[in-house]
Amino acid sequence: MQRALIERLLPSYVAGAEARSDAADDALYPEERAAVAGVSEGRRREFTTVRHCARRALSALGHAPVPLIPDARGVPRWPDGVVGSMTHCRGYRAAVVARQYDVRALGVDAEPWRPLNEGVLGTVSLPGERERLAALEASHSRLACWDRLLFCAKEAVYKAWFPDTRTELTFRDVSVEFDPTEHTFRATVLAPYRRDFTGRWLAREGILLAVAFDG
Ligand SMILES: CC(C)(COP(=O)(O)OP(=O)(O)OC[C@H]1O[C@@H](n2cnc3c(N)ncnc32)[C@H](O)[C@@H]1OP(=O)(O)O)[C@@H](O)C(=O)NCCC(=O)NCCS
Repeated sequence: MQRALIERLLPSYVAGAEARSDAADDALYPEERAAVAGVSEGRRREFTTVRHCARRALSALGHAPVPLIPDARGVPRWPDGVVGSMTHCRGYRAAVVARQYDVRALGVDAEPWRPLNEGVLGTVSLPGERERLAALEASHSRLACWDRLLFCAKEAVYKAWFPDTRTELTFRDVSVEFDPTEHTFRATVLAPYRRDFTGRWLAREGILLAVAFDG
């Protein structure tokens, strides 16, 4: 069987699970069903599938299945002592979880492997990042869509940053530097205060995937 994309990215202390399609029979807890009452069928299905992934990942940490209810800001409430993150994009859903004593914060993001729309890079990047991306386009053009990967890494960092800070960031509050050989990145939140993250990324099977870690 093919190894899951998410598993290629995770250190041993992080559990992950993914799905490429929505199963018709995945069920929600009543509290979860209430959280998506009235949304479109597509949204309900991605919400359901990613929670199924999250419960599979939690079981790898030894946790029994629990409802994963979004709070008022959309942040999923994980069991005590657990940090985690979820993502969905067309044709892909994934969840990652870890014990809080192994990692302080976790974020995951998946994006389709295609360039950002015209003009978007300028709004999500810093001048230094654009210089580094131009160099990567020249030296490693086939490895990834570097502009979309930058966006993906920043979304992963935001998902790791937000749950314990409850503070919004703009894309220009974060600086990302990729290592194209190790498939890692370093990210620094520059404002409102400095916080460093490390990350891993891959570009495979039409998907860009980034996971950000603090600690
Ligand atoms: C929250 C956000 C990052 C989600 O990213 P996305 O690419 O739109 O969507 P994804 O499918 O990858 O992720 C959605 C999941 O993220 C999680 N999520 C939602 N809001 C979140 C938050 N504030 N913090 C952490 N996780 C969050 C949820 O689990 C959600 O899935 P669910 O609703 O099914 O539970 C994005 O919508 C957003 O608000 N971005 C604005 C902030 C930003 O990007 N700032 C600059 C980055 S540095």
